[in-house]
Amino acid sequence: MKLSVIAPTFNERENIRALVEQVQDALPDMLYEIIIADDDSPDLTWQMAQEISARDPKVRVLRRTRNHGLGRAVMEGFTAAAGDIVACMDADLQHDPSVLPKMLEKLTRGADVVIGSRYATGGSTGDWNWFRRLGSRLATMMARILLGVKLTDPMSGYFMMRRNDFLRVHPSLKGEGFKILLEVLVKLRPGAIEEVPYRFRRRLNGASKLSSKVVFQYVRQLWELAQLRQLLPARFIRFVLVGCTGIVVNLAAMALLLKLTDWRGWVASVVASLIANLNNYGLNNVWTFSDRAHRGFGLIKGYVSYLLMSTVGLGITTASYIGLAWTVAQFPLGKVDWNRLGIALFCQFLAIALGTFSNYILNKGVTWPGPARNDVHCAENLPFLNSGNTQTVAKAGFDCDPSSGQRPLL
Ligand code: GDD
Ligand code: MN
Repeated sequence: MKLSVIAPTFNERENIRALVEQVQDALPDMLYEIIIADDDSPDLTWQMAQEISARDPKVRVLRRTRNHGLGRAVMEGFTAAAGDIVACMDADLQHDPSVLPKMLEKLTRGADVVIGSRYATGGSTGDWNWFRRLGSRLATMMARILLGVKLTDPMSGYFMMRRNDFLRVHPSLKGEGFKILLEVLVKLRPGAIEEVPYRFRRRLNGASKLSSKVVFQYVRQLWELAQLRQLLPARFIRFVLVGCTGIVVNLAAMALLLKLTDWRGWVASVVASLIANLNNYGLNNVWTFSDRAHRGFGLIKGYVSYLLMSTVGLGITTASYIGLAWTVAQFPLGKVDWNRLGIALFCQFLAIALGTFSNYILNKGVTWPGPARNDVHCAENLPFLNSGNTQTVAKAGFDCDPSSGQRPLL
């Protein structure tokens, strides 16, 4: 057996007959099989597939009653495949089977992974609405930046590879969500990746299963694959999120003050900022630094420290802006004219990032100093780590992750 085409299905009853026919048309003189990896679809796709299979021995059916999910269905199909080469293809006919021979040719000529691409020259996304187009572009961009994959369509669900390569990375694959290809690419790090353009066709029957849950899974998957967690500990992320709530509180307080009082604008602004600052302190105390939280009178001392450190952070932001503006555009203190607004905002953005980061480091060291790293093991300082739930907490990504055995960067 040379090629196994794996088509994951969920409620694709009306599509699989045409799929089998179109694959046959694309590969007239080849030894291949089609594996329908169905998640026990309520519309009885598996039953229809079994009927087709009874007449056409090229068609095999996996009726999967547990461990559901697109990625996992593909993994099971690849594992069960008899071919040396495995391909993954949507069953809804959106992936054009007529490019299969071209993909196969590239693979036999030495490529490790061949990807059907909607964005390579000659390919297209068909008649998507602008929203879906934008979403797909954004997701593609994120994958390219975060994972460093230099492909036009890393999000493709249409790809081909050697089964042996798949088996090699299989143990490290999770298969969550839709993006099994991304996971394979990151884990396999194949040397030669080739793309074959195709036109993403319109779905004729049934409905897409791409839900907001799938999008969320994707972002999480990217996050895990990029291993950003090691670079940016969860504590820092929480600190930034608290900062974001501060912006909302600040604006709301400002609006209220302007409405309810007859204070001058700048006074309202200062007071709104102080209220936001207090909000951030409180949230950071109970959430970001919950394992080191101040209580009782310590709360006041902590607040004074927080206020001071925030002032230092503000100073760093301003200094960074001046430094950046000076090096980038030589206008440190002068008035910014309109056509240089973009540069000024860019400098300010970087300055905010630097200021936030310094703010975090300072507050972590001064306002919420943890126990010295070297003499006590992390787990002993986190009460909830000892409650027998180590797995969950470690997974949530503490920068003091005892399971990783790795020294945190920050
Ligand atoms: N077994 C199984 N389990 N199959 C599933 C599941 C599931 O939970 N969810 C979806 N499928 C099957 C569908 O039946 C279909 O054959 C294929 O996976 C793709 O699902 P669609 O719901 O049609 O996805 P899409 O067309 O919106 O998304 C396609 O385009 C994306 C690019 O934007 C897919 O090819 C994605 O993989 C691709 O990334
Ligand atoms: Mn589809």
